[in-house]
Amino acid sequence: KQQKIVVLGSCSVDFTTFCPRLPMPGETLHGTKFMTSYGGKGANQCVAAAKLGGNTVMISRVGDDQWGKQYKEHLSSLGVDVSHTHVTQNVTTGIAQISVAENGENQIVIVAGANNCLSKSDVDLAKDLVKNAGVLIAQLETPFETTLEAFKLNTGIKLLNAAPARTDIEAILPYCTILCVNEPEASLIVGFNVEIPNVKIALKKILEKGCDTVIITLGDKGAVYSSINSPDCVHVFCEKVIPKDTTGAGDAFVGALATFLMRDKNKPLHQVVGAACKIATLSVMKEGTQTSYPENHSSFDEEYSFVIL
Ligand code: RIB
Ligand code: NA
Repeated sequence: KQQKIVVLGSCSVDFTTFCPRLPMPGETLHGTKFMTSYGGKGANQCVAAAKLGGNTVMISRVGDDQWGKQYKEHLSSLGVDVSHTHVTQNVTTGIAQISVAENGENQIVIVAGANNCLSKSDVDLAKDLVKNAGVLIAQLETPFETTLEAFKLNTGIKLLNAAPARTDIEAILPYCTILCVNEPEASLIVGFNVEIPNVKIALKKILEKGCDTVIITLGDKGAVYSSINSPDCVHVFCEKVIPKDTTGAGDAFVGALATFLMRDKNKPLHQVVGAACKIATLSVMKEGTQTSYPENHSSFDEEYSFVIL
């Protein structure tokens, strides 16, 4: 069996409305459709990995409301090991209120609920698992101190998706094997507005903060990355499509990246990044997050084009 992909992170229930465009402050709009689905960045990444054949474990907390139990069963049905997904009494499961516009743009408000209860003692309970994970993935929807503790323990690849964006994450960067961020998230870390013309400077500045490899995802423009050991800045391109729903595309990228790192160990990084972009691209063409992630896709039939910046 493949080495384990352990995700330490959030499980949330997504309440999504589809509308012609995003509402302005104070405005009420007629939406066209409503959908309740399983989301949360942690679980999304875990499911993206599981659907591609990753050997996944989810360390997380749900509430003792109607959603918590269902969420565990859902993950389990997809082959995710939920023996470290715990139910917390007297709190609500994490939720996200999402609006998706016709052009694929979205707006999200999250209420962490049980996600806030994921603690260092949960990491302690899973100590061997956390230590020996081939890839340990985390995001910023669960307590930072818990993630830091887990990253200090792990001896494999520590993959941090620093989302949603926040500033005070410097302490964990020296423990990150791979930091994966989008442009707004990267901007908060470097303190200037990250855009294609300055991504090279941004990558260099983030690498100086201690991670081994930094990947900045650029939506339909693909992704750029650079590593301490191979400091070239590589821009991998992806196919442009007409998006239906971009929610959770970043999560598809992260989950796919982890799976390909474990499954296809001899591939060059530009191919791994290109393949992960491909999975994210496929996900934006369908509504929803987890439901839009492809199953058992063999993304290595293609050569992904790239340039060195
Ligand atoms: O990244 C997408 C996710 O962010 C959604 O599923 C929602 O739960 C929010 O947390
Ligand atoms: Na989608």
